[in-house]
Amino acid sequence: MVRQIRFNAFDMNCVGHQSPGLWAHPRDRSYKYKDLDYWQDLGRTLERGIFDGIFIADVIGYYDVYKQSLFHALEQAAQIPVNDPLQLAAPIALATEHLGIGITASTSFEHPYTFARRLSTADHHTKGRVGWNIVTSYLESGAKNVGQGGLRRHDNRYEVATEYVEVLYKLFEGSWEEGAVLRDADRRIFTDPSKVHEIGHKGKYFDVPGFHLCEPSPQRTPLLYQAGASGAGKTFAAQHAECVFVAAPIKSVLKAYIADVRRQAAEAGRDARKILTYNLVTVIVDETDDKAQAKFREYQQYASYDGALVFMSGWSGIDFGQYAPTDLVKKVETNAIVSVVDHLAGGSKSWTIEELARWGGVGGLGPVFVGSPATIADILQEWVEETDVDGFNLAYAVTPESFEDVVNLLVPELQKRGVYPTSYRPGTLREKLFGDGPYLPSSHPAAAYRDIEAVKRREHHAAEAPARQSVEA
Ligand SMILES: Cc1cc2nc3c(=O)[nH]c(=O)nc-3n(C[C@H](O)[C@H](O)[C@H](O)COP(=O)(O)O)c2cc1C
Repeated sequence: MVRQIRFNAFDMNCVGHQSPGLWAHPRDRSYKYKDLDYWQDLGRTLERGIFDGIFIADVIGYYDVYKQSLFHALEQAAQIPVNDPLQLAAPIALATEHLGIGITASTSFEHPYTFARRLSTADHHTKGRVGWNIVTSYLESGAKNVGQGGLRRHDNRYEVATEYVEVLYKLFEGSWEEGAVLRDADRRIFTDPSKVHEIGHKGKYFDVPGFHLCEPSPQRTPLLYQAGASGAGKTFAAQHAECVFVAAPIKSVLKAYIADVRRQAAEAGRDARKILTYNLVTVIVDETDDKAQAKFREYQQYASYDGALVFMSGWSGIDFGQYAPTDLVKKVETNAIVSVVDHLAGGSKSWTIEELARWGGVGGLGPVFVGSPATIADILQEWVEETDVDGFNLAYAVTPESFEDVVNLLVPELQKRGVYPTSYRPGTLREKLFGDGPYLPSSHPAAAYRDIEAVKRREHHAAEAPARQSVEA
């Protein structure tokens, strides 16, 4: 059977997301990120193209690693200014019927209790079409500005994230039983208090003794996205993510990554085929190959050298501003995105700083595919066949043009080939993607928190055991 291909739109509530400098292109409309009707129009376009979702990236913090200054990031609008992503969920949902809305939020900065309420609210407002992209963050500036002094070490951030999601699972899955809300006007009982539970969480990083503030939302735990690429990150993805984002520049890297995540997921008792993987790609498509190549060359004229290095420096944690353009990228131990440093300095290719800036100028860390609808469709099918990837997370070069081109030109070509959906499944985002129920399956670690009273007894017993042992000794 020919494999199906899925699309997500990769965007951010800001001007320069992945292609710095292209904000100056005369047709780019990313400066409209402050207008809700801009996002609603985009949502409608993506839904016309049967995209699984619009996925809104986010950073708390800014890119001040390059030349140890914020100057170039500000000048080129490199992910600053940036607005809150979660506030886009409801307006996009109002303008669409099926599109998923993935929202990025970090486990490093906001307390899980307040975040749980914000996320449940979004799941209610979107009628179960919201997803959460779980990130651990990589910008020191974010940690400093929330009073943490600096970022925790990379692997420790994943340890915090593991406890963070445990708190959320307890709140979403365990605090309010099915049927707790009665809205029984005759008996004057809105909620049955016996069915609402304190979660009693006392951990290494968080204490959350009480009740979730929201009644259960359509998906309870919103759909979970993740993009860990390091050892710790992949293990986290394999355990928790339902959709995994990858930014692999070449097929062999992607294939190895996906095989590893699926293997680890199966070892964790999950159905590895029910993890959807999407690779970051920028598609530049036009009616013919020549026209698409001309469009790409035109875009490249607007790419910002400094803007690209602002991103590369922020993602890797290496200040590329300290080198000459002809210097080679060298491996340095950093506390940012470990896998980016490994790709750039440890891979088979040696990069000069200038090559890095040119490569990252359009499309960031992902590959850029340029061509006619047939050419791009061939490439995407080849990637899917050879790597086992389920779909692509499409970044824009010029927005909304890049998305409109995909919807108007590429999607019909893929549909003609029978490799792309022609309609949505009914239900919540989780049901649309996986076809099962609205909630996480019983094989997911969140399911273990559904009977929260049993969890509390178990945890109480485990906490008592060492004390009992020392008394007996
Ligand atoms: C497609 C894609 C989107 C991502 N979006 C974000 C984001 O919005 N915010 C963020 O802090 N990190 C984002 N990341 C970074 C990941 O969360 C993660 O830090 C990175 O993939 C490296 O993995 P590691 O943390 O295990 O080293 C993204 C990564 C990919 C591949």
